[in-house]
Amino acid sequence: MTGPRETLVGITDVVKHFAGGGNVLKREKRKVHAVNGVTLAIRQGESFCLVGESGCGKSTLARTVIGLNAPTAGTITYRGQRIDDLTPKAMAPYRRRMQMVFQNPYASLNPRMTVQTILEEPIRFHFPRLSRAEVKAKVEEVMLSVGNDPHWGSRYPHEFSGGQRQRISIARALMVDPEFVVADEPISALDVSIQAQVLNVMMDARDQRDLTYLFITHDLSVVEHFGSRVGVMYLGTVCELAETKALFANPRHPYTQILLAAIPRLDASGFRHTRLAGEVPTAMDLPSGCVFHPRCPHANARCKAEIPALKDQPDGTAIACHGIEEGRI
Ligand SMILES: Nc1ncnc2c1ncn2[C@@H]1O[C@H](COP(=O)(O)OP(=O)(O)O)[C@@H](O)[C@H]1O
Ligand SMILES: [Mg+2]
Repeated sequence: MTGPRETLVGITDVVKHFAGGGNVLKREKRKVHAVNGVTLAIRQGESFCLVGESGCGKSTLARTVIGLNAPTAGTITYRGQRIDDLTPKAMAPYRRRMQMVFQNPYASLNPRMTVQTILEEPIRFHFPRLSRAEVKAKVEEVMLSVGNDPHWGSRYPHEFSGGQRQRISIARALMVDPEFVVADEPISALDVSIQAQVLNVMMDARDQRDLTYLFITHDLSVVEHFGSRVGVMYLGTVCELAETKALFANPRHPYTQILLAAIPRLDASGFRHTRLAGEVPTAMDLPSGCVFHPRCPHANARCKAEIPALKDQPDGTAIACHGIEEGRI
């Protein structure tokens, strides 16, 4: 990549709360603080990975970025144009440029439609002037490009394996020539033996089509393989933002350090495995101050009281941590 590239997707101070959390039997009504003030710029051409444990708000943020959720506060821009407040009609061109691949290829493909119909539907909607022959040719081209047999058209999703289905989902996303693809844990529901293959299909598509990705995963080994930059999320906030290489070479935020230490690696000392200590807070009982403080070995009174801002560091990473800012970590 040559020099800094322009921002494709701007996420500014995005907050997403849901009503309707809490124990239904106890008639509790509690707010779920799924995303609590995220600011990120996804640059043209990069593969931005968002990592974090289950429940930290990754899918909610992804759905908000792509317009499936309205943010409670904050803004989303696409090439500088604000898109979170558009009418469905004004949003239509952006819906073509931004496509999503979901985690579960069993749920995301309509079981009553043939593969041909599934693939033709988005292109007929967004490019109604294309002839039948042009649509057919496009289906064939895209199916081949993701390693699928282009003659699968008359069959139904249930006739395929998980990996084949996910490649059909990827083909569906690529049918309309998107610029930006949000992939929400696209390989985590798949058999380990075919995860790498599907990841390679996504990387080939990136190289052939100059795609920008927001790639969501809880698996750091995938990040190392796929991502140019990484955002680490914890309870609805981004605690560290770094180039992939920098993050793995020198994780700075205490949470990132623990997350990296938890990857089983066979190194000189054999397998290391560190587990997080402390109660697991949820998006309904958000801790005060730094959301990570109850589990942080370096937390002090300031960490309990004051929310740390994500601050740019001299080396290009950004970290939200009072301890690092004060030089005591
Ligand atoms: N539609 C919803 N209604 C209420 N709570 C939700 C909804 N969607 C997600 N949540 C809650 O928001 C938090 C973040 O969820 P999610 O974004 O799915 O996390 P992740 O994708 O990182 O696992 C969780 O506590 C989840 O239960
Ligand atoms: Mg999720």
